[in-house]
Amino acid sequence: MPEFTLKIRRFLPETGDAPYWEDFTVDLEGHRSVLEGILQVRDVQDGSVGIRCSCRAAICGSCGVRINGRATLACKTHLNDALEDSQEDGAIVIEPMGNMPVIKDLIVDMDAVHWTKIRRVTPWLLPDGPPPEREYVVPHEAMVDVTQSMACIQCGACVSDCLSMEVDADFVGPAALAKAYRFVGDPRDAQHEERLRDLAEDPHGIHDCTHCFACIDACPKGVAPMDQIMRLRRMAGSDYEIDDRNNGHRHESAFTEIIRKKGILDEAKLLPDSYGGKLHPRVVPELVDSLPVIVTALTRGKITPKAALMPHRLPRDSQEAVKRIFETIDERDERYELNLYITGFEDEEVEKAAAEEERGPHE
Ligand code: FES
Repeated sequence: MPEFTLKIRRFLPETGDAPYWEDFTVDLEGHRSVLEGILQVRDVQDGSVGIRCSCRAAICGSCGVRINGRATLACKTHLNDALEDSQEDGAIVIEPMGNMPVIKDLIVDMDAVHWTKIRRVTPWLLPDGPPPEREYVVPHEAMVDVTQSMACIQCGACVSDCLSMEVDADFVGPAALAKAYRFVGDPRDAQHEERLRDLAEDPHGIHDCTHCFACIDACPKGVAPMDQIMRLRRMAGSDYEIDDRNNGHRHESAFTEIIRKKGILDEAKLLPDSYGGKLHPRVVPELVDSLPVIVTALTRGKITPKAALMPHRLPRDSQEAVKRIFETIDERDERYELNLYITGFEDEEVEKAAAEEERGPHE
C-alpha cells in the first residue's frame, strides 16, 4: 500500500500554543481522497485532529481546506494528485482556509465571515404583490441563467483565496456576490434595481473586486464567482445606469473607451478620464488623494515619468483590429451572457432523444 505524508497545520486553542506543523504518514491508495487521509490520521494516530466533513462527495461543502496553498474540498482531491502538486519534498501540505479565523486545526469560523457576508445580500427572493394561487411560472432560459450561481455549495473556498478580501476584510466577497446574482438574475424577484444600487454604492461591494481570478480557480463547483460579479456590474452600469458614488461605473467606462480608441490601456489617462476628463473639478482632489500610490509606483519602478508622458502605442493595424472587436460587440441586438456551466447540455439531450425516436424501436 502506498504511503503519503500529510503535513497538517495544527492549532489547539486550549493549549495556548501558537500554530505549528505536524507530519503524519498514512497508508492509502493514491485514488483515495485527502479527506480520507486526514480521517485515517484522526482514527489511528491522533484523535485530536480537527476537520469538518459530512457527505464525502463534494456536495455538503463542509470539508474546505487549503491543500498545497490553494483552497479546495479535501474530499474532492485525490492523494496522488495532491502529491503531484506539492512543492514540499514529498509532503501534502494541508492548512485551514484563509480570510477566516481558525477555531481549531483545519476548522475555520465560517459564521464570522462567510455566513455574515451571505446574510448581507438578503439571500432570499423578494417578489412583488401577493403570491400566485399556484406556483410562479418562470421562463426556462431565465433559470438556466442563474443555474451557475445556484450550484454553489457554500464551502467558502472562494472566500478563502479572495485577494481583495485579504486587503479589505469588509469586501462583500465572491460567494455572497455570486449569491446576489442568483436573485438579481431571477425574474420572480422584484428588487433587482434596489439590490444592484445597494451593492454598487457600497464601497466594499461589486466595484471592490480586482479581477484576480483567484475565486474562479478555487471554486470546486464551477460557479466562477468573479463572472457573476461582472454580470452584476454590467447590469448595474448598462441596464440600470447606476452612476455609483465609488466611481466604479465611470472607471469601467473610461477603461473601455481608452482601449476602444487606442487598443491598449494608457494608465496616465485612466484616472482623469474616470473622473470626467483632465479639466473636471473632481480630478484634482482625486489626484491629490492618489499621490501616495503614484509616488510608491514611481519609487518601485512600476511607472516612469517617460512611460506616463509617452505611453506605448500599438501599430495602426492592431488598433483597427481592436476597434473591429468593439464594433462587432456593439452591433449585437442584445447582450449574450455565456453560462458555461450548462449551455448546450439540454439541447444535446433533446436532439439525441429526437434522433432516437426517428430511428424507431430497436430490433
Ligand atoms: Fe461534503 Fe467534502 S465532505 S463536500
